Amino acid sequence: MVEYRASQTAVLVAQGRAAAHERLAPGRFTDPTARALLRDDELTTVDLVRRDQPPADWTGRVTYEMVRRCAEMMVPRTVAIDAAMRERRTPQVVILGAGLDGRAWRMPELAAADVYEVDQPASQQDKRERSGILDGKPPVFVPVDFGQDRLGDALAAAGHHAAATTTWVWEGVVPYLTPEQVDTTVRAVAALSPPGSRLIISYQARSARARVGRLVAHSMARVTGHVSPWAAEPWRSAWTPAGLAGLLERHGFTVLRDDNLLDLAAGLLAATPRTVSFRSGRIAVADI
Ligand SMILES: C[S@@+](CC[C@H](N)C(=O)[O-])C[C@H]1O[C@@H](n2cnc3c(N)ncnc32)[C@H](O)[C@@H]1O
Repeated sequence: MVEYRASQTAVLVAQGRAAAHERLAPGRFTDPTARALLRDDELTTVDLVRRDQPPADWTGRVTYEMVRRCAEMMVPRTVAIDAAMRERRTPQVVILGAGLDGRAWRMPELAAADVYEVDQPASQQDKRERSGILDGKPPVFVPVDFGQDRLGDALAAAGHHAAATTTWVWEGVVPYLTPEQVDTTVRAVAALSPPGSRLIISYQARSARARVGRLVAHSMARVTGHVSPWAAEPWRSAWTPAGLAGLLERHGFTVLRDDNLLDLAAGLLAATPRTVSFRSGRIAVADI
């Protein structure tokens, strides 16, 4: 992660949601905030994907395929996380590594909650600039680098109450953190979670095939002169479901379920891609 640069992976997943909006899984997935949060140049590929129009040149094609695949992945990931949030309503919601997530504005269920968005400072500044045009109550922005800052102190200073229950959403962030940073963050989250709180985590399961796939994607990006969104944001941790459950349980959480995207996509997408990213992408829901 480059300290002073806003996250490009946050842009990619927002592009995925904008490309999927009311097109993949109609009636089940919708995110109008994604398009609103993107800049015109970031929407070019989104619109090509929405029109099923792959560009002829290689560089354009690499970007197109990334956004197209990301759109498919965002559908089960978003639907599962939204459902887990609706199941257990809490007066506070904290979105960890929020990037360009539009939930604070998008989900009517959050209107009565106090919503906090935690993110690395440069990404959060970028989000503040982009989100001014969205209607609705904005979240409280809390700049935190999980590798450097104390989450508890930053949230307390922003008005979060440690004695009130919280739903924590940690989507698409764990792979970018070291195992130690993940452990430190879960410890901080647990300390701020009275009984009735919930932690929803998306993470990557360990997979040799996924590692090879990423090497191929990086090589393709280099060969075509494309700047990969992962260039400044390498993956730093992957977990087995048992390893993640052990970590959560050590900090007092009980894992309710932990599913891969392949299973979560059943019945949502017309054809579920049986790719390694669907097999190794997982969502765990844990309560305390
Ligand atoms: C792939 S994006 C996911 C964004 C959002 N959760 C979503 O799913 O749309 C990864 C996010 O993690 C954040 N992130 C990565 N490393 C971080 C760190 N050390 N501290 C705080 N945020 C971090 C980035 O700033 C970015 O917003």
